[in-house]
Amino acid sequence: MGHADPRLEVQLQPYWMPFSPNKEFKHEPRLFARAEGMYFYTPENRAVIDASAGLFCVAAGHCRPEIARAVHEQLQTLDYAPPFLRAHSKAFELAERISGYTPEGVNRVFFTNSGSESVDTAMKIALMYHRVRGESQRQIFISRERAYHGVNMGGVALSGLVNNRRAFGVGLPGVYHLRHTALAENRFVRGQPEKGAELAEDLARFVATYGGENIAAVFVEPTAGSCGCLPPPRGYLNRLREICDTHGILLVFDEVITGWGRMGANFGAQAFGVTPDLMTMAKALTNGAQPMGAVAARQSIYDAITDAGPERGVEFFHGYTYSAHPAACAAGLAMMDIFAKERLIDRAREMSPYFADAIHALQDLPIVTDIRSIGMLAAVDVALDKVPGARGHEMQKRLYDAGLHLKNTGDALLVAPPFIAEKKHIDEIAGKLREVLARA
Ligand SMILES: Cc1ncc(COP(=O)(O)O)c(C=O)c1O
Repeated sequence: MGHADPRLEVQLQPYWMPFSPNKEFKHEPRLFARAEGMYFYTPENRAVIDASAGLFCVAAGHCRPEIARAVHEQLQTLDYAPPFLRAHSKAFELAERISGYTPEGVNRVFFTNSGSESVDTAMKIALMYHRVRGESQRQIFISRERAYHGVNMGGVALSGLVNNRRAFGVGLPGVYHLRHTALAENRFVRGQPEKGAELAEDLARFVATYGGENIAAVFVEPTAGSCGCLPPPRGYLNRLREICDTHGILLVFDEVITGWGRMGANFGAQAFGVTPDLMTMAKALTNGAQPMGAVAARQSIYDAITDAGPERGVEFFHGYTYSAHPAACAAGLAMMDIFAKERLIDRAREMSPYFADAIHALQDLPIVTDIRSIGMLAAVDVALDKVPGARGHEMQKRLYDAGLHLKNTGDALLVAPPFIAEKKHIDEIAGKLREVLARA
């Protein structure tokens, strides 16, 4: 994998790669040159099956011509339109299409450009909502250990992953973390574990300690994704909802990974039968082909904030230059057509049992210490090799070399194929995992 070409070495240096070991990568780069359907291709034209849908975003498979055409045409028609004081029709159209997938009543859509921006936007909507109702003392946010809520400062404050926080000294006035739900007794459980609903009582303890009337919102990923696929214990999310309702706290589902079919339903909200007040989304909204995120809000939240504003003035001082970018909206609308035409979410649900069977069959490998799965998302934990994460990192490199791309978080290997995956692709993914992990 190393290369001796000094010109290439120079070319590699200026790009500061995110969430990557820059020094190592620039010595042994692993690049992609193109992609199609279920596969990436390396510069040497070697096929690498995409077992993580890129980064959980390419739900419809790579390089969909419908999306490429829509973006191309959009950029030739209206390349950019300022989203403040002006708008274009595709923004309204896409918001309406999205609200056809979100739970009833959660039907007002604020556009952002990423999951991270969606999280910080949701935090601001929560604060604004309480403020206009005369409850501006609600400044505390609750999230959870091992949570990933993106990398902007609000999201980092919510984060429950130490490496994402420790260097940045973030502290919003009050963020408290529920315990995570990774219980030893739930090892190798498929789907929602039976044990652990009582962990939701942590929220009741925060209410008792800090005062429910001071808490703005609770942020949770319906299934914790990035940290290694932790489906919610049965009854856990319902209990959070109940406690939030009792104390007027907003419940926010961060659906950046769990949204758009990954759980085998439109969103985690429907998969787990619990309706949040706000939900974030990004990734599969445009199939990853254009950067775009969104926050869907209960209509009552939108109404409270807009009604409280001045008759002719701005109601909510927030937004991005690229909110509802025309090219992203065009990609999103093309993706909505694909979701509908190809019944992509049904397809994800239908393939889930086969996918879970294939991944859980890896349980016999000595190196595998746990497997968790739900919908079209699974995590395979590999045994610690001296330093946490070292083996997971090594495995993702070996898997790439063996023709499989996936994302690892520490020692958890995250498997989340595009929903166009056929049984033969699932077999190929499981086969390559077995081949590489058996040799480790
Ligand atoms: C739950 C969750 N929230 C937020 C984010 C951040 O999204 P982005 O990388 O688009 O900013 C992610 C990314 O994986 C995520 O999984």
